[in-house]
Amino acid sequence: MQVLMAAFLVWTLLSPQGRGGEAWPTHTACRDESLQVLYQSCDPLQDFGLSIDQCPKQLKPNVNIRFGIILREDIKGLFLDVALFSKGLSILNFSYPICEVDLPKFSFCGRSKGEQIYYAGPVNNPGFEIPEGEYQVLLELYTQDHSTVACANATILCS
Ligand SMILES: *[C@@H]1O[C@H](CO)[C@@H](O)[C@H](O)[C@H]1NC(C)=O
Ligand SMILES: *[C@@H]1O[C@H](CO)[C@@H](O)[C@H](O)[C@H]1NC(C)=O
Repeated sequence: MQVLMAAFLVWTLLSPQGRGGEAWPTHTACRDESLQVLYQSCDPLQDFGLSIDQCPKQLKPNVNIRFGIILREDIKGLFLDVALFSKGLSILNFSYPICEVDLPKFSFCGRSKGEQIYYAGPVNNPGFEIPEGEYQVLLELYTQDHSTVACANATILCS
C-alpha cells in the first residue's frame, strides 16, 4: 500500500496541470461487500491520494486512513468542511479543525507549501452504522486564510 501510494503521488506530480477542464479520475478509497467509497478531486490544480484501510458499514470510532498530497499552501492552520447529501438533499454540514496553531493534532501540521505529506494512521470519528443508500459528500480542506488545500466530491454506496 505504501508503494502504491508513493506511485500514486509520483503520478500526481507528473500529471500535467490544468488538464484543459478535464475532470480528475475517480478513485476508490475503499470497497467492501456492502460499502464502497469513491472520490474525485474537485481542485482543478491537483489530485490527491486517499485510502481507508477497512470499509465496514459499522463505522468504528478509529478508522485508519492513508492520505498523500503535495501542499499548495502552508498549513499552520488546516480545516475540513464536510457537506453530506442524499438524493440531492442536504443532510449534514460540519467543520472540523485538523491543525490549529496552538493545537496541532497531526505531525504534518505546520508544513510548508510545496512539501509532500503522507499520513498513515487513525482518525477519530464517531462510530455508527451507515444506513443503506447512496450519499454524495463534498469535502474541502482549507487554510486559516481560507485558501483551498484540497477539494473532493465523493460517493458512498451502502447496501
Ligand atoms: C463528482 O462530481 C461530478 C460532477 O457533479 C460527478 O460527475 C462525479 O460522478 C462525482 N464523483 C464522485 C466520485 O462522486
Ligand atoms: C449545508 O450548507 C449548504 C450550503 O453551503 C446549505 O445550502 C445547506 O442548507 C446546509 N445544510 C444543512 C443541513 O445545514
